[in-house]
Amino acid sequence: MRRSTKITAILAVAAMVSASGSFASATVSYSDFGDLENGKKIFTAGKGDVPACTSCHGNEGLGDDAMGTPRLAGQGVAFLIKQLEDFATDKRQDTTMFIMNNNAKGLSPQDRKDVAAYAASLSGPTAGSDMAAVKELGSVPMGVRYLGKNLAQFGSDERGIPACHSCHGYNGRGAFPVYPRLANQKYVYLVNQLKKWRDGSRANDPLSQMQNVAKKLTDDDIYNVAAFLTSADQTTIGNYRIPDQK
Ligand code: HEC
Ligand code: HEC
Repeated sequence: MRRSTKITAILAVAAMVSASGSFASATVSYSDFGDLENGKKIFTAGKGDVPACTSCHGNEGLGDDAMGTPRLAGQGVAFLIKQLEDFATDKRQDTTMFIMNNNAKGLSPQDRKDVAAYAASLSGPTAGSDMAAVKELGSVPMGVRYLGKNLAQFGSDERGIPACHSCHGYNGRGAFPVYPRLANQKYVYLVNQLKKWRDGSRANDPLSQMQNVAKKLTDDDIYNVAAFLTSADQTTIGNYRIPDQK
């Protein structure tokens, strides 16, 4: 019940935002979600005991494979706000650096919205990890990109795995507000999260949607699909426009 209430709440917010946006302009702007000035301050300088987000997520919010931190730049705003709320209420545990729960708790709900809006507003290259550098780290096996592309686009009928596209959009470019962008996300982060969904140590997904998918994935599936997604093109053949969505 709680989960479905939450989804309804997210969708209601999305509806409100797009309704209000349609009066002013056709597109929603990041400042509709939070105060970008305050968000930038927190992102670059921290607040109270909460360190600057840049110290782990990078100056441009692109994430860091050596630390296992995700890219935040260009991620859906409502999705980032939800993650910060989930960390603040312990619905999601940071079992990578054991830090995000404290970070989120150290910020007010409004601060969380502001910093999420700022982080999401950052644009970045349409490429995730430098795979040669990840290989150097030696901590995570390398996947095979074309096998991962197949899984992302078609899933597997025999094994009951849905295409990642069916929820996350074309090449994982995101279907906001509920489904996060996976395209150009950091490789190590993608691998870590898929394993966490699979073993249930991350369980903040509505209706266990992601856990149900991840349970069917082998280690190789995880490496392969992450290898594809980190470098996945967000545009379709013949149409180089990435749909405007937040
Ligand atoms: C000391 C390092 C560190 C700092 C500082 C830090 N983070 Fe994180 N953050 C992480 C790690 C590690 C993860 C991945 C946790 C996991 O594996 O589940 C993460 C995950 C996240 C996520 C989840 C993203 C997703 O795609 O689900 C968000 C949102 C986030 N951080 C926002 C922030 C913000 C905003 C700040 C600054 C207020 C911040 N972080 C500061 C280490 C850090
Ligand atoms: C039935 C819908 C559905 C399908 C199919 C699906 N996902 Fe997801 N996925 C979700 C939802 C919902 C979330 C966000 C959960 C949350 O709110 O934290 C998510 C989150 C994720 C995340 C975490 C992203 C982040 O930034 O923290 C990864 C990684 C991921 N999915 C990978 C995949 C891959 C790879 C596939 C295909 C093998 C896939 N998903 C298929 C619904 C789906």
